Amino acid sequence: MPAMARICLTIVMLFSVMLICQLQVQAGASTPQFKHDSKILQKSIVERVNSNATAGWKADMSPRFSNYTVGQFKHLLGVKPTPKGLLETMPVRSHPQHLKLPSNFDARTAWPQCATIGRILDQGHCGSCWAFGAVESLSDRFCIQLGINVSLSVNDLLACCGFLCGDGCDGGYPIAAWRYFVHHGVVTDECDPYFDNSGCSHPGCEPAYPTPKCIRKCVKENLLWRNSKHYGVKAYRISSDPHSIMAEVYAKGPVEVAFTVYEDFAHYKSGVYKHTTGDVMGGHAVKLIGWGTTDDGEDYWLLANQWNRGWGDNGYFKIRRGTNECGIEQDVVAGTPSTRNVIKQISEEYLDASM
Ligand SMILES: *[C@@H]1O[C@H](CO)[C@@H](O)[C@H](O)[C@H]1NC(C)=O
Ligand SMILES: *[C@@H]1O[C@H](CO)[C@@H](O)[C@H](O)[C@H]1NC(C)=O
Ligand SMILES: *[C@@H]1O[C@H](CO)[C@@H](O)[C@H](O)[C@H]1NC(C)=O
Repeated sequence: MPAMARICLTIVMLFSVMLICQLQVQAGASTPQFKHDSKILQKSIVERVNSNATAGWKADMSPRFSNYTVGQFKHLLGVKPTPKGLLETMPVRSHPQHLKLPSNFDARTAWPQCATIGRILDQGHCGSCWAFGAVESLSDRFCIQLGINVSLSVNDLLACCGFLCGDGCDGGYPIAAWRYFVHHGVVTDECDPYFDNSGCSHPGCEPAYPTPKCIRKCVKENLLWRNSKHYGVKAYRISSDPHSIMAEVYAKGPVEVAFTVYEDFAHYKSGVYKHTTGDVMGGHAVKLIGWGTTDDGEDYWLLANQWNRGWGDNGYFKIRRGTNECGIEQDVVAGTPSTRNVIKQISEEYLDASM
């Protein structure tokens, strides 16, 4: 082939590759505007799920999302893809296969003295799920592993971690939250309560809230920011093998998981969820607290969401276990609570009391 023709051919090929790439990017980018503004809850989805005998779960028009558009719902799904560099520096923990585990497990009944395990919170209109899943699991682990009753502050993490954790109410990285606990600690909820306690009903929350500012001061004057900090000592990922995830929860307490949310998940009411219909809406993070098997022999994970008790099964949901449904077994993260600061405070309180 003459050189000129070869160059021309190369240029033509380059252009076609660029064109294809661009088309793919457009297809993968945001949903078309008509869908973005339409309501997330659809009667057709409820009917489709509820009339399907093999779906294994029931749907309803959840009051939590009665006035939400697809765009607003997507904004809640605040898990951003973790930067590769960050992912690779985190240790991966797996647990030996020979560990005997019960066929049913529920952290709420395993540690009934730890009230935070069974709490259902509400992230409001902020894409802060990445922070909720982490802070809630860490609070539980303080009680389970150290016998310390504490509600930790989602707000501290959300407002003060900055770009290292992602983009606040516009989404973040679950594993970065656990790293923040090791390096900076997290204050108590009493010191820095969540900014959006109203849950914000429409109208009045549009445009979506900006991320709260990092103040580093307790709202209560008698509390010191520095003294309220609770730390982690380790942050790690857990191997995606279901047995390892179960062993971790059984031995150490709840973990944070991320998974892909489809349209039908907004309609979940009860049963063991698996994706049946609808498009991808985004990545979401929640707290995994147990597992079991239904009478029909279906294995499931048990999880606490933070969309209040009006959504789902009183705020909880079950999802199929063992098949990496919606990626639920793929991005499991956790950490270890530290005695730093808290043991000192306990002994100071003890001294104060005994003086
Ligand atoms: C019913 O649910 C099953 C399991 O999720 C799915 O494979 C099947 O395609 C669904 N059927 C219909 C008609 O949607
Ligand atoms: C949803 O919007 C309707 C009409 O705009 C209103 O009457 C209703 O109270 C709203 N529901 C919620 C839960 O905000
Ligand atoms: C935590 O608080 C609850 C309720 O106030 C109490 O019943 C429980 O015993 C406490 N647990 C620990 C470990 O102190």
